[in-house]
Amino acid sequence: MYRVLKRELIVPNIHLLVVESDIIHKNAQAGEFVVVRADEKGERIPLNLIDWDKESVSMLFMEVGTSTSKLAALKSGDAIATLAGPLGKPTEIVEGKKIVCLGGCYGIGALYPVIRMFKEKKNYVTTIIEGRSDYLLYWQDRLKKYSDEFYEITRDGSKGFTGHVNDFLVDHIKEKGADLVYVQGCTYLTYLASQTTRPLNVKTIVGLNPIMVDATGMCGVCRVIVGGETKFGCVDGPEFDGHQVDWDTLLARRRIYLGEERYSLSFYECERYG
Ligand SMILES: Cc1cc2nc3c(=O)[nH]c(=O)nc-3n(C[C@H](O)[C@H](O)[C@H](O)COP(=O)(O)OP(=O)(O)OC[C@H]3O[C@@H](n4cnc5c(N)ncnc54)[C@H](O)[C@@H]3O)c2cc1C
Ligand code: FES
Repeated sequence: MYRVLKRELIVPNIHLLVVESDIIHKNAQAGEFVVVRADEKGERIPLNLIDWDKESVSMLFMEVGTSTSKLAALKSGDAIATLAGPLGKPTEIVEGKKIVCLGGCYGIGALYPVIRMFKEKKNYVTTIIEGRSDYLLYWQDRLKKYSDEFYEITRDGSKGFTGHVNDFLVDHIKEKGADLVYVQGCTYLTYLASQTTRPLNVKTIVGLNPIMVDATGMCGVCRVIVGGETKFGCVDGPEFDGHQVDWDTLLARRRIYLGEERYSLSFYECERYG
């Protein structure tokens, strides 16, 4: 069992989870993930590594279904059944480039270790965070620390640029240029950003979140098609060239357990709330 040091609501539905670990930090790199399981009966779910030190690792998760609801109910001093990692390939290191990093929902937190690494490698980092409204944006100060430029986008206009990321990205890249765009967040955001940068011909790396089971390359559940080839998100990714991803297949595969996910959540909530 792994002791929970902290579980904190950051903004509605997004929680920080800090778990005791004296080993993961030894190999942790930006862009990697861990697998966690709330309890013995639970499902193993992948979460990006947000931060790490000699005593703990931090993850940031969005409460969407049974497993994340179980994690959201944790208090410091509780324990989780599984913490495995680091897993996946780290973000490819580039140096001295102009990089635009874009994050939404849990991806705002997932940007943190990556922009820190990009900044340390002397890249010019522009960070853009987006959300439906200003109260869903977070960690501005943390991210600004490693950003040369920082922007916020809200769809309701409550803060920063009003609208969706595509308009902002197009104008920003046309005006200031970019060697690389890096995106973390829900599948719609990674898809939208990739479609936006394709005609601008700017390489775009996206963190994908296909459904995973073993997360070690054995089961094949996380397969995605990239550049016409089958890849496993857990061992070949989770970051891929967004212009090469077969988005239709990815979106379809993410929905294959929708019925089971709904049933599981209703069962869990009935058990929990009576
Ligand atoms: C490599 C990798 C890294 C990931 N990193 C993170 C992370 O750092 N933080 C994080 O919150 N999630 C992350 N995810 C996604 C996370 O693993 C899933 O959200 C989680 O498995 C959901 O489990 P659940 O049982 O709570 O919900 P499920 O029962 O599996 O899903 C419930 C419903 O929510 C939908 N759903 C699931 N995930 C999302 C989502 N991200 N956005 C919108 N709707 C969704 C499902 O389609 C389903 O309809 C990552 C996924 C991968 C593959
Ligand atoms: S999750 Fe099983 S092969 Fe990737």
